[in-house]
Amino acid sequence: MNRMIYVVFAFAASLAAAGFWLSASGQDMQANGGKGSAQLATKMLIANAGVKTEAPATPIASVQGPSWLKHLGLTVSQTRMGQAGAGGSVPNTSDKKPELMVGTSGQPGSLKPIVRRLLATLRTRPEESPEILNEKFTAAGSDLYRWNCQGCHGPDGSGVAPEINSVLGPVQGTSAVLTKKRMEARGIDADDEVINQVTELAEASLRDRLQHGGKSMPSFEYLRADEVDALIGHLEKLAGVPPTKRNGLLVPESAARVGEHIERGTCHICHDATGPGAGQASMKQGTIPSLASLPREHSLSGVVHQVQYGSCDVMKMTGGDVMPAYPYFTEEEIAAIYFSEYAARR
Ligand code: HEC
Ligand code: HEC
Repeated sequence: MNRMIYVVFAFAASLAAAGFWLSASGQDMQANGGKGSAQLATKMLIANAGVKTEAPATPIASVQGPSWLKHLGLTVSQTRMGQAGAGGSVPNTSDKKPELMVGTSGQPGSLKPIVRRLLATLRTRPEESPEILNEKFTAAGSDLYRWNCQGCHGPDGSGVAPEINSVLGPVQGTSAVLTKKRMEARGIDADDEVINQVTELAEASLRDRLQHGGKSMPSFEYLRADEVDALIGHLEKLAGVPPTKRNGLLVPESAARVGEHIERGTCHICHDATGPGAGQASMKQGTIPSLASLPREHSLSGVVHQVQYGSCDVMKMTGGDVMPAYPYFTEEEIAAIYFSEYAARR
């Protein structure tokens, strides 16, 4: 029996990308322990991001500390992190817009009317805006993936070899159905108990990766348990895993929380939380303006445009780094970043 488990484990190790088991090793965790601390120090955007609560009157905070790349000692041009999301392409205006209504039709609420109301309220009754920022709507696991993971792992989860590992192997490892099938194909006759042990280990490793990050991957400890389940449901879809009970799970989100997801999972890879903006710093020295400077120095439409189209290549000629395009973030989602930054830094 022991030998059997060993064989199965050895097999599972070859199943997942080679980095899978390695990434769960203590060494890797230790390396992250130091690096992750700035992320851990990050305050929650809304103290109570719980389910179906009346909007709490908590102050809105935002991401803190230096960018993830600064943390790793990398520059934008030395890595593909943050640049894998859309292949750097500019959206074709004749293309269908990315799915605007987060969640499924028929589900209560979507981000769009919330942002509309926010815009109107800011002009007339600004004191009501925090409440609207915290209003709940329904989002899906695919949204969580887009906000938090796509910038590095790409739309299909395959990443950018060799720097950014694919998420697909580790997710496939969590499926009993797939694992059994693959073992049978190799002539290994494993009983259910063994399969369970292997897949539970894979599941634990995946969750650990989200909780603690990796050598070069930030931690996602700010994800709630229900968000993690919905996210894994989407990862299973990407990985071709037969649908599980996590398939299609929906979660309550708010504009403030969307802002937090996208900033933490995407913008904060390159942008410091606070510090000078473009107006104060010389962009020629390669200074990337802070997130806090954005609502201070830019109109909403300016930020929407920058995010959906990226910077023009002329920036390269002035020696500055170039920002990729993120056409897969909707206007409303970018507005959510803008308004939560605005509310947090007021
Ligand atoms: C800032 C870039 C970045 C973001 C954002 C990111 N990752 Fe990663 N991820 C990496 C890198 C780089 C690796 C390779 C291992 C390492 O260096 O930590 C990795 C590895 C992984 C692995 C392990 C792959 C293996 O072979 O073991 C999984 C699983 C994973 N990421 C899932 C996710 C999920 C889910 C999200 C979103 C919640 C996410 N990642 C967001 C950069 C990122
Ligand atoms: C891969 C790195 C990277 C990521 C990720 C990134 N940016 Fe940038 N961003 C840059 C760089 C480099 C510049 C400076 C060059 C420029 O202005 O185009 C910049 C500039 C900007 C500017 C123009 C600022 C100014 O004052 O001219 C805005 C607005 C902006 N980013 C917003 C965002 C938002 C919002 C996000 C998250 C959705 C984001 N960025 C994600 C690299 C990045």
